[in-house]
Amino acid sequence: MTSKFDSLKVSPEEFYKSRIDPFKIKRSRIEKNKARLFGLHIRNCNPSVVLDIGCGEGHFTEYYNSFIPEATFYGCDISDTAIERAVGLGSSVRYFNQDLCGRHPEKYLKHKFDTVICSEVLYYLPNDQMNKAVNVISMFGKKGSNLLICNSQGFSPPEIVEMFSTFYNVKGLDTHRLFKKLYTSIIHLVKK
Ligand SMILES: C[S@@+](CC[C@H](N)C(=O)[O-])C[C@H]1O[C@@H](n2cnc3c(N)ncnc32)[C@H](O)[C@@H]1O
Repeated sequence: MTSKFDSLKVSPEEFYKSRIDPFKIKRSRIEKNKARLFGLHIRNCNPSVVLDIGCGEGHFTEYYNSFIPEATFYGCDISDTAIERAVGLGSSVRYFNQDLCGRHPEKYLKHKFDTVICSEVLYYLPNDQMNKAVNVISMFGKKGSNLLICNSQGFSPPEIVEMFSTFYNVKGLDTHRLFKKLYTSIIHLVKK
């Protein structure tokens, strides 16, 4: 059972408790550019109700929420500390705790979202929990929902497509210059 957090020797909760903005998302120009690019992809989905999985302290989610004000945004993360900080931002985004390797989503959150974002999260999950996580991620969407996945490491695009193939079809892979350099791609999947 290995995950990125195993190599850091801390849990996500400990990581957030030890410092504010542990992934340096708020301070990084690269992350700002990534948010802009990702925001354009999300907007192209004409979203109405969006979930940002692994939203951490909500920095990306808040940006998307202001960039696409016509959509309703939710964010979830395994870390209570991160979620508390995100809620503390006081915006209209609704945040909740969700362990992708834990219990199934609450009933009212199942099949609710037409657009689901999962950016830089999968490689933090233990390998032996991946099937469970894919299942949980899939439960948030309904037929025709968009799932946008981005990873800078851990899984190649074909591996991700294969992982989700029971639930999703591939709509496209974005290999924008910035993403080629820093991230594998944005993979756009559509729920069957
Ligand atoms: C690198 S951050 C990603 C932040 C942002 N989404 C991005 O694109 O950079 C990874 C996030 O995944 C969350 N995470 C790790 N394991 C998780 C799990 N089992 N369930 C839900 N979230 C998890 C962490 O707490 C952390 O906030």
